[in-house]
Amino acid sequence: MNGKLKFRNALAGKNTGRPPLWVMRQAGRYLPEYKKLKQEYSFLEMVKTPELAKEVSLQPLKRFDLDAVILFSDILVIPEAMGQPYHFRDQGGIEMEFSLKGKDCIHRLEAEGIEEKLSYMKDALLLIERDLMDKKALLGFCGSPWTLACYMIQGGSAEGFPKAVEWATHHPKAFEALLEKISFALRQLIEMQMQAGVDALQIFDSWHSLCPKEKAWDWSLKWIKEIVENLSDPCPVLLYAKSSKERLKTLCQSGVSGLSLDHGIHLQDARSMLPCPFVLQGNMDPAIMETNPELVRAETMRILDSMREDSAHILNLGHGIRPNAKIECMDALVETNLSYPY
Ligand code: CP3
Repeated sequence: MNGKLKFRNALAGKNTGRPPLWVMRQAGRYLPEYKKLKQEYSFLEMVKTPELAKEVSLQPLKRFDLDAVILFSDILVIPEAMGQPYHFRDQGGIEMEFSLKGKDCIHRLEAEGIEEKLSYMKDALLLIERDLMDKKALLGFCGSPWTLACYMIQGGSAEGFPKAVEWATHHPKAFEALLEKISFALRQLIEMQMQAGVDALQIFDSWHSLCPKEKAWDWSLKWIKEIVENLSDPCPVLLYAKSSKERLKTLCQSGVSGLSLDHGIHLQDARSMLPCPFVLQGNMDPAIMETNPELVRAETMRILDSMREDSAHILNLGHGIRPNAKIECMDALVETNLSYPY
C-alpha cells in the first residue's frame, strides 16, 4: 500500500499493519542538501520561491521512505502577511520587526487578501502534488491563533512570552480583537491549502502550555475550534499542543481529529482516554535521533510494540527533528518501521 493511502487510512482509523511515518522539520538543518541550499538562499527566499520550497519539501523523500510530506514553510508567514515581518536572530530564535502595542497596532494589521499575499504557498503545494503523483500524503499547516499572538505581542521568541500572557490576562478585549483577526487570516490560509489538495492539516499550538488550565479554552482552544468547525470541506486536523496527560481531553474539545504527542505522555495512556478512531501521532523523543541507530531501533520497536494493531496511530517524533540529528538514525527509524513483523 502506498504512503498516501496508509496515511489516509490511519486518519480514518482504518490502518492495518505498520503505522504511517513522517517527521516535522524533516527538511531541516540536519540534511546536508538543505544546508547547501541555505548557503545560496535565505530561509524566507526558499519559503517564498515555489520551485525552491518544492525542492526542500521533497529533499527528505529522496533519502527516506516516509509516507507523508509537510510543506516547507513557517507558521510566521501569517504575521508577516498581516504586516509584521520577522527574521531569525543570529544567536537563534525569532525577532519580529516590532511588537504589538495596543489597539492601534491591531487596527493596522491587515487580515484580508491572505490568499493573494501567500500565493507562493499554493504554487509550491501544487508543484509538490504534481511530483508526489498520489504516492505520498501531503500536509498543510499553520500556527494556532494563540501561538502566533505570543510572537506578535512579545515581538519575538522569549522565555514564557510574558507580554502575551500579560495582555491576555489584563486586556481581554484587545486580546480578543487580535485573536479574531489572526483567526480570520488563518481561515483564508487553510482554505487555500485545502484547495491545493492537502490530505491533512496540522495546527501548531506550540506555546499552549503557557495558558493556565482555566484559560486554556478562552486563550487558545476556542479559536482552534472555530477554525476547525468552519472548514468549507471536511479535512482531518491534527493538533500539536505540548501539554500534560490531564489536559488531553480538553484539547480534544477543540474538535480536531487527532493529537500529536511528545515523549512525556505514554501513547497507551492517551489511547485509553481517547479511543480509536481518534488519531494519536508520536511520540519518539527527538533527542534519540542524535544518539545511534541501535538506540533508535530499540525505541522504535518499543513504540511499535505499544501501539501494535492500533488503526489510528501515526509514527512521528514528539517534536521537530533537530539540527544535530543523524542521518543514520533517521534510516534506522524508517527501516525499523518498514521491517516490523506484523
Ligand atoms: O517540517 C518542516 O520542514 C515543515 C516546515 C516547518 C518549519 N517550521 C520550517 C522551519 C514547520 C511545520 C514549522 C513550524 C514552526 N515554525 C513552529 C511550530 C512548531 C514548533 O517548532 O513548535 C514554530 C514555533 C515556528 C517558528 C520558527 N521557525 C522557529 C521557532 C524556528 C527556529 C528558530 C531558531 O533558529 O531558533 C523556525 C525556523 C525553521 N522553520 C527552520 C525550518 C526548517 C530552521 C531554519 C534554518 O535554520 O534553516
